[in-house]
Amino acid sequence: MTVIASIDSQSILKATNLLKEGLLVAMPTETVYGLGADATNSRAVAAIYAAKGRPSFNPLIAHVSDLTQALKEAEFSETALKLAEKFWPGPLTIVAPISFQCSVCDLARAGLDSVALRMPKDLTAQRLIKALGRPIAAPSANRSGHISSVTAEHVASDLLGKIDLILDGGPTKLGLESTIISFCQATPIILRSGIIAREEIEEFLNQRLTSPVKDKVIAPGMTLAHYAPLATLRLNAKDIAEDEAAIDFGAQFNQFRKTNLWMRDLSATQNLIEAASNLFTFLREADKSGTKKIAVASIPKHGLGEAINDRLMRASVPNNIA
Ligand code: TXA
Ligand code: MG
Repeated sequence: MTVIASIDSQSILKATNLLKEGLLVAMPTETVYGLGADATNSRAVAAIYAAKGRPSFNPLIAHVSDLTQALKEAEFSETALKLAEKFWPGPLTIVAPISFQCSVCDLARAGLDSVALRMPKDLTAQRLIKALGRPIAAPSANRSGHISSVTAEHVASDLLGKIDLILDGGPTKLGLESTIISFCQATPIILRSGIIAREEIEEFLNQRLTSPVKDKVIAPGMTLAHYAPLATLRLNAKDIAEDEAAIDFGAQFNQFRKTNLWMRDLSATQNLIEAASNLFTFLREADKSGTKKIAVASIPKHGLGEAINDRLMRASVPNNIA
């Protein structure tokens, strides 16, 4: 059941406890409402994708309460830091390479080596992040394909029954999403235009912002915001070849178990939320094991299975086509 609560110490405490338990809380920010979960808890983040009904895993913004917390999560260039100091707290999202101690889970980053960070100005959001003591992953609080919610009523009409609590802070002040700037390349790239105008940022930095090459996809799965594993994936595998590692689902590969075989089960109990929460971590671990090929068991196509299959399909495209 979804509870809608106005903002006071009691509802903030309730929200904090729900987040600590890995549950979902919609919170106001100054831009749009966010569908929040503990960004360090991959099960909780998987529940975000399930509630939104997203057919694919987009990386999410991790919301922080102060600069110290942000600097723990990512490597800020001098320019990135300058921009953060100027526009935070506020409607600016900075994408930067993860630090060695980044706590935002793989799934929230969709497996990428970068993380999107934002310090919201909204006091409720700030109180909640501080109380949790960890970043809050929060995409806009709407069903996939719908427009972003700017009131608690919008959130309820999209997500009632799918999340645990909606903190009602009234209509959001700005009503449009944050501007996203990536600092993962030599020059900053504007990934999404938003509340802060490109010109304002360019003027402040005294530097032009590059635009991403629009939908320039070399091969499916090779877009800017997608993690590509080094190993080649063989999907819907019924067996495991000599030279393959294996990613199982629901113990389909049990009969092939043997020593020296690198194998993980996304969810032995066929739980799609658990499977989603393990997906990027296992792909990364498989790459680290040094294997060149991975057999992947078939995964149901319904619910979160759609996003898992989408991700695996993209990952199965050879990434050495230049
Ligand atoms: O104003 C906002 O930004 C709102 C509030 C809730 O903070 N959030 C929001 O989140 O609009 P969402 O998930 O709807 O959009 C986040 C965008 C996505 O388009 C995603 O692709 C991009 O951020 N993004 C996140 N992490 C990224 C990364 N590591 N690299 C590139 N893009 C990233
Ligand atoms: Mg959105």
